[in-house]
Amino acid sequence: MTTLALSDGIIKDEILVVALAHKKSMRDGKANLVIESGDIALDPKKLLPILADLGATGKFDEVIKIPGITTRLLVFTGIGEHKTVINDEVLRRAAGAAARALSGSSSATFSLPAKKISSLEAIAEGILLGSYLFNKFRVDSMSQRQPSLKSVTVHSNLASASGAKEAIKRAVIIGEYTALTRDLINTPPSHLNPDSFCKEITQLVKKVGGSAAGLKVSVLTQAQLKSKGYGGITAVGQGSANPPRLLQITYRPVKVKAKKTYAYVGKGITFDSGGLALKPAAGMEAMKSDMSGAAAVCAATIAIAMMKLPVAIDCYAPLAENMISDNATRPSDIITMYGGKTIEVLNPDAEGRLVLGDALVKAQENKDLDAIVDVATLTGAQVVALGTRTAAIMTNNEEFSNHFFAISRAAGEAFWPMPLPIELRASLDSPVADMANIGERMGGMLVAGLFLKEFISPELPWLHLDIAGPAYNEGEPYGYTPVGGTGMALRSLVALAQSAAIS
Ligand code: BES
Ligand code: MN
Ligand code: ZN
Repeated sequence: MTTLALSDGIIKDEILVVALAHKKSMRDGKANLVIESGDIALDPKKLLPILADLGATGKFDEVIKIPGITTRLLVFTGIGEHKTVINDEVLRRAAGAAARALSGSSSATFSLPAKKISSLEAIAEGILLGSYLFNKFRVDSMSQRQPSLKSVTVHSNLASASGAKEAIKRAVIIGEYTALTRDLINTPPSHLNPDSFCKEITQLVKKVGGSAAGLKVSVLTQAQLKSKGYGGITAVGQGSANPPRLLQITYRPVKVKAKKTYAYVGKGITFDSGGLALKPAAGMEAMKSDMSGAAAVCAATIAIAMMKLPVAIDCYAPLAENMISDNATRPSDIITMYGGKTIEVLNPDAEGRLVLGDALVKAQENKDLDAIVDVATLTGAQVVALGTRTAAIMTNNEEFSNHFFAISRAAGEAFWPMPLPIELRASLDSPVADMANIGERMGGMLVAGLFLKEFISPELPWLHLDIAGPAYNEGEPYGYTPVGGTGMALRSLVALAQSAAIS
C-alpha cells in the first residue's frame, strides 16, 4: 500500500498535487477556473492561461499534469464547481483520481484545500483508495503495468493540529481494510471458496494479534452446519464440490466496556452460477463478487478492532458456492432453516436470502445485541432501482436507518432508503411451506428485504443493505473507485461503530 506522511513544512517531492475548480459563469465557452492549493501559494496569473490552453475544466475526474515551477510536475485534480466549503467526499474523490493518475511515480505531495480534520482524513483515504491495484494474478503482463504511487505527503497547516495524526492513522486502517475487501472480491472462485475465505480471515486475524486485539474466529464446517440445522446455507452449498461454511468473527474491546453491541452479517456466495436456475453466460463472471457483503463485514470488524473502538461486534459470513450438480437444490425443494422455518425453494438463484436467513437467526442468539445489520449483493432489482453507484437501506426502525443514512453520507458512501411495503409480503406465501424464496417480481429488492425481515425479531433495530450495484465496478474507474471490487459498505460499517463509541 502507498505510504502516507503528514507535513506542514517545505515540499521535498518532485510532484505537487493541487485542486482545480470551475465557477459557474463561462466566458467564450471557456471555464472560469479557480486553483485551490491548500496553503501553498501558486501564481494563478501564470497558471490559469496555461490551464485554459490545455482545455482544463476542473470537472471531477479530470487530472491535468503540467511542468512545475518549484517542483518537476504540477498536477491539477478536478473538484467541480467552486465552493467556499468543500465537501469531504469531493476531496476524497479528487485525491483518489490524482493518486490513480500517478501510478508509476514514486512520491508526491498533495496540497488540497482541507479546512478541518475530517477533510484531511478524507484526502488521505482518497489517496490510499485511489492507488489500489489488483495485480496478484499477472505474471507476463506485469512488466507492462505501472506500480501504484509509492509514497505520499499530505501537506496541510492542520498537520500539527490536535487529532491530525489520529486521522491519518484511521485513514491508513480504512485504506488497508478496503484493500482487503477489494482483494477478496476480485479473487476468482478458482482461488477463493468458502473454506479458503475462512482460512484467509483466520490467518489475518492471527497476524493482527488475535485475542490480544479482542478478536476471535470460529468456523462451522458443512457437517456441523448440517447437524445444527442450518438448512439455508447447506441447501445453497450442496451442489458444489467446495462445501459451505459459516464464519464468525467476534470483536470485544480489550479492557474497556463496549458501549454498543452490533451484529454484522454479510452474504458470502463465493460464486453465484444461479444453480439450477443457471444464469446466462454473458456477465456471469461478475458473480465472483457475490461475497462482497461478507468481505465488507469481515474487513470492517477487523478494522474496528484495529481502531480499538469500544464497541462489541458479532460478525457472521455465511459462505457457499451456488453451483449446479446432481446434488444441487431443485426448484420445489423444501428446506428447513436454522430456527425451524420451512422454505419452498422456487428459484435456486434467490440463494442469498437463504444463507442470510440462517445467519441472521444465529446472530440473534446473542440477547445483548443493540442492532443487527446485514450487507448483501442480494438482487438485480437493486441495480435496476438505484443504478450502479447507489446502494439501498431497508429497515424495521426508521430512527436507526436515519442515523445510518447520515453516517454513510459523512463517510462518502451513497446509500438511499427504500421501503418494505407490507402488501408485497403475501407474494412470498407458499402453498406448501412457511414461505417461498421468491415472490412478486416487481419491487424484487423490497420483496427480498421482506423475506429477510421474517428472520428478524421485531424489537431489534435492523438494517438490510443491498449493495448489488455498487459493490463491483464493471465500468471505468472513477475518483477513488477502481474497476472490480469497490469496498462498498466498509466505511459506513466502521463509521457506525465510531458513532456508537462516542454516544
Ligand atoms: N447475486 C444475485 C444478485 C445480483 C445481481 C448481484 C446482479 C449483483 C448484480 C442474486 O443471488 C440473484 O441472483 N438474485 C435474483 C433473485 C431473483 C431470482 C428473485 C435476481 O436478482 O435476479
Ligand atoms: Mn443468485
Ligand atoms: Zn447471489
